[in-house]
Amino acid sequence: MQRKISEKYLSKSFWGNKKVLITGINGFIGTNLAKILISKNAEVIGVSNNRDKDISLKFENILDKIRYHRVDISNNKALNKVLKKYRIEICFHLAAQPDVNIARKNPFQTFESNIKGTYNLLDGLRKSKVIKSIIVASSDKAYGEYPLTRLPYKEKYDLRPKYPYDVSKACADLISKAYSSEIFKLPIITTRFSNIYGPGQLNFTALVPDCILALLKYRKFVPRGNGTNKRDFLFVNDVCELYLCLSYNLFKDSKLSGEVFNAGTNKGYSVDSIIKRLCLLKNESKLYKDIKSSYVKRLQIGEIPNQFMSYAKLKKYFGWKPRYSIKEGLQITIEWYEKFLKKHRKSKLLRDLKS
Ligand SMILES: NC(=O)c1ccc[n+]([C@@H]2O[C@H](COP(=O)([O-])OP(=O)(O)OC[C@H]3O[C@@H](n4cnc5c(N)ncnc54)[C@H](O)[C@@H]3O)[C@@H](O)[C@H]2O)c1
Repeated sequence: MQRKISEKYLSKSFWGNKKVLITGINGFIGTNLAKILISKNAEVIGVSNNRDKDISLKFENILDKIRYHRVDISNNKALNKVLKKYRIEICFHLAAQPDVNIARKNPFQTFESNIKGTYNLLDGLRKSKVIKSIIVASSDKAYGEYPLTRLPYKEKYDLRPKYPYDVSKACADLISKAYSSEIFKLPIITTRFSNIYGPGQLNFTALVPDCILALLKYRKFVPRGNGTNKRDFLFVNDVCELYLCLSYNLFKDSKLSGEVFNAGTNKGYSVDSIIKRLCLLKNESKLYKDIKSSYVKRLQIGEIPNQFMSYAKLKKYFGWKPRYSIKEGLQITIEWYEKFLKKHRKSKLLRDLKS
């Protein structure tokens, strides 16, 4: 099925005055998406359970431009209050506990947010008469592990995760399937994207921000593996544009409901090659040598060794492909952290990172 991509998905005439809910609005992707939607005159409503994370909404000067509710999506009553207050037409469901290390230590909280939070939201939206487009962020991790010979991952692959975060995303993914089925007919597209990086990512256990903190002399980089793990990396601007494209197309054509789309770059980059690229962009070959010499020999338990995603289906449906090269994306990202970190006192940031 070839659908012609229409640039109308970027137009103010479509987004202007649309009531758009973003769950997890003050997170990395939520902030970037809110910024674009506000620039298109959408009425943005957001929920998040953690005000401490408002730091990037403040940095981007958009906190006072959204209707913001501090709500835990695993609290059905509180969430439904927000859903009833607005006639939400479009929803991006991004709220989740996304840190795999926290998920290992606290699977209960991860399951509450990622699984219960998802069915609370979809069940609430089921009662709406005006909802026309819901995007649910699943993840590449929902697939679990496949041998390198079968990569890049394709949408037809079975979900067979086994680690807590991965299982939580697969559950949310399947719950979305049930709500989009002919029983409930909720308009839902599910996305399984690769690792995402870029401005605004304040989860400093993720590879790119972790390494940039070391490049900018904030702290030492401690490798968690031997650098050979292969991952796919999507730049956040590509992700946000793709979300707008999927959401717009679902709004216009409800037959897309129930579809799942992967996104990535089709390629796997070793962790070592990302670290090397970042160090070279800052002329830090000495730091790269130091990091390389401190790689630990074994792979970390609970980590999938190789993951990268095919975007062939997106290309076929919408002519989509990533616009940003890894070099461009990393360069823009470093520049953003330099500006951001100048505004935030080093001692305070390091304290916040520990807590
Ligand atoms: N960042 C990536 O590399 C990546 C890749 C694939 C998929 N995803 C998915 O994309 C989504 C967004 O990821 P992100 O990187 O922006 O994460 P993030 O941690 O920066 O943001 C998540 C947001 O969800 C909120 N949240 C968490 N639990 C909540 C709860 N119970 N109630 C209300 N709010 C809650 C947090 O406060 C935060 O605002 C997640 O669903 C994640 O699984 C992320």
